[in-house]
Amino acid sequence: MPRRPSSSSPLLDDRQFKRPKLVHLTSESFKNGIFLAPMVRSGALPTRLFALKHGASLVWGPEMVDKAILHAERVVDPITGVISYNGKSRAMFTTHPIEKPYLIYQIGSSNPELAVQAAKTVMQDVSGVDLNCGCPKPFSTHSGMGAALLSNPDLLCSILEALRAAMPPEITVTAKIRLLPTQEDTLKLVERIIDTGVSAITIHCRTRNMRQKEKALIERLKEIVEFVEGLGKGIAVVENGDCVGFEDAQRIRQLTGAHSVMIATAAESNPSCFSRSPLQNVEENLIPPYLRLCKYVDNHWSNTKFCVVQFKGSGSKLNKADAHKFRNTLSKSKSYDDVEDVVGEWTGEQVFGEIVKAIQSRRLGHQVGTEDSSPRPHERAGSEGGPLCTPPDRLNPEPPSLDAPLGPSTAARMPIPAIITGDDALTPTPTPR
Ligand SMILES: Cc1cc2nc3c(=O)[nH]c(=O)nc-3n(C[C@H](O)[C@H](O)[C@H](O)COP(=O)(O)O)c2cc1C
Repeated sequence: MPRRPSSSSPLLDDRQFKRPKLVHLTSESFKNGIFLAPMVRSGALPTRLFALKHGASLVWGPEMVDKAILHAERVVDPITGVISYNGKSRAMFTTHPIEKPYLIYQIGSSNPELAVQAAKTVMQDVSGVDLNCGCPKPFSTHSGMGAALLSNPDLLCSILEALRAAMPPEITVTAKIRLLPTQEDTLKLVERIIDTGVSAITIHCRTRNMRQKEKALIERLKEIVEFVEGLGKGIAVVENGDCVGFEDAQRIRQLTGAHSVMIATAAESNPSCFSRSPLQNVEENLIPPYLRLCKYVDNHWSNTKFCVVQFKGSGSKLNKADAHKFRNTLSKSKSYDDVEDVVGEWTGEQVFGEIVKAIQSRRLGHQVGTEDSSPRPHERAGSEGGPLCTPPDRLNPEPPSLDAPLGPSTAARMPIPAIITGDDALTPTPTPR
């Protein structure tokens, strides 16, 4: 089996950090937090890593329909450690072990058995599974998934019960719902959901028929939070809707009593919005490093472009003409090669290293508990039974023609940090049942 070099790198010398051994997530882990919402397309691996670096406590992956992941092949990139669940023509889901302690995998389902199979497929790489009960789009609701579950509480709860029964205790089960038109019906549904054994419930404070542009009805949440607290099970209620960043999350928590707040649209515009001091000059401070990271982790170009063209922020240092030129370059680009002027040097491993450092140095205690770490057997990138090489026909990562760090010439690149490759497991890897 090929092994990564074990020499230390100045960037990722994790000996300078106290490495917390993570105890798995619990209901408490969903309290006092600020979370990246699940977002199809916009919530891919690079955005989740940036969100974690800049203060997101937990990150949700984009919704994956249960069946979509069932036949995917799990492939580990031996250079970067990126794990891809590859379908026939593309990666369905991509993750990295560094985000596992904070990663919630969202499932779209209308079938308890399929939901359980999907969860079992990915559970070794995630810390929790979440059921999407809020997507109002016809592609979701026509097959009984997403917001359609809100009017079929028996099915909704049977999926959550099946997941809770099938998952080992170290994998949390949660649900994300929308408000129902009446408060009374919402409370009834929330009570049923809590009774299934979920660790947390996220409430998107819009009803199924409300448009994204309509103001979220956060004033309805306080009563729901009090109701859940009255049930005495210690379950976390997460507010979702219209939060724009760290300060705003404090305001929303005060107003609603919610235990935590989840952000989507604002994070799509700037994944550093979780920070007290989010990146402002995005043309200089966000877009270039984001592009470098995307290439390093072989994020598919079309997804990368989709994300960066949406990044916005105040404090640009560019004059009008240069700003226009910058945006024009991005919007016309067709590959990583086309954005070289924007990126400067392709130092993606350095960007990744900084993210690893930031994640490693987080204070995990208040969320998930820490223990002194002691060496233990641990899954190593590239040391498992599955294939070691990136198949040439897969769309994500892009083929090595893009100079993605997949070839032998990259053997001397920065080693994968010990927190990933070493003897220090971040979370217990559940044994599939
Ligand atoms: C681009 C995009 C993709 C989304 N994809 C999902 C999804 O996969 N699953 C989900 O439960 N909600 C999804 N949502 C809804 C968000 O998670 C969130 O509930 C909604 O945008 C309200 O939060 P906000 O006001 O912070 O934007 C998506 C929203 C956006 C903008």
